[in-house]
Amino acid sequence: IAAAVFASGSGSNAEAIVQASALPCAVCLLVCDKPEAPVIQKAAGWNVEVFVCDPKTFPDKQAYEQAILTKLQDMQIEWIFLAGYMRLIGSTLLDAFANRIINIHPSLLPAFTGKDAIGQALAAGVKVSGVTIHFVDSGMDTGTIIAQEAVPVQPGDTHHTLHQRMQQIEHRLYPETIHYILTREGKE
Ligand code: GRF
Repeated sequence: IAAAVFASGSGSNAEAIVQASALPCAVCLLVCDKPEAPVIQKAAGWNVEVFVCDPKTFPDKQAYEQAILTKLQDMQIEWIFLAGYMRLIGSTLLDAFANRIINIHPSLLPAFTGKDAIGQALAAGVKVSGVTIHFVDSGMDTGTIIAQEAVPVQPGDTHHTLHQRMQQIEHRLYPETIHYILTREGKE
């Protein structure tokens, strides 16, 4: 089973997935929408093809996603894992990959959807936040939840300290959940 990771930023979750041992899929492709994203440099050491696709160079979202879709189909990609990909998935990719796109979000959904979930949790003063892994639908962080894990918010936490605590969980939970979903499939 071939899989692609989509990332826009630092790529620590992408790295955790690519480096995970014994996953039931081969991550062969990184798709990145930001030509300057640090994940691109990181991926140079991963033995994964990097596809940088800048939406600004396409007339519209459909054309942008069609370019990605063509690449995915060329490589016979069956699963997409979003790892800090800061863009809503449109109908072109959703239709082609129904129930085969997974995302990770740094809150206990349905709380704190969208951008800066960690800042939202801090501003709300919650004592517990967490990490959610879910299937992607056309909404913003609204698809079926697959896995969640709580992360305590501690007194004095900053965005940085809470994000670090979240990421420790993310880097374990994302590969675990991918393993669970892909092995569950054949058994149903
Ligand atoms: C993660 O915290 C993830 O939950 C969110 O975006 C962040 C990406 O971080 N969707 P990284 O680029 O994987 O380090």
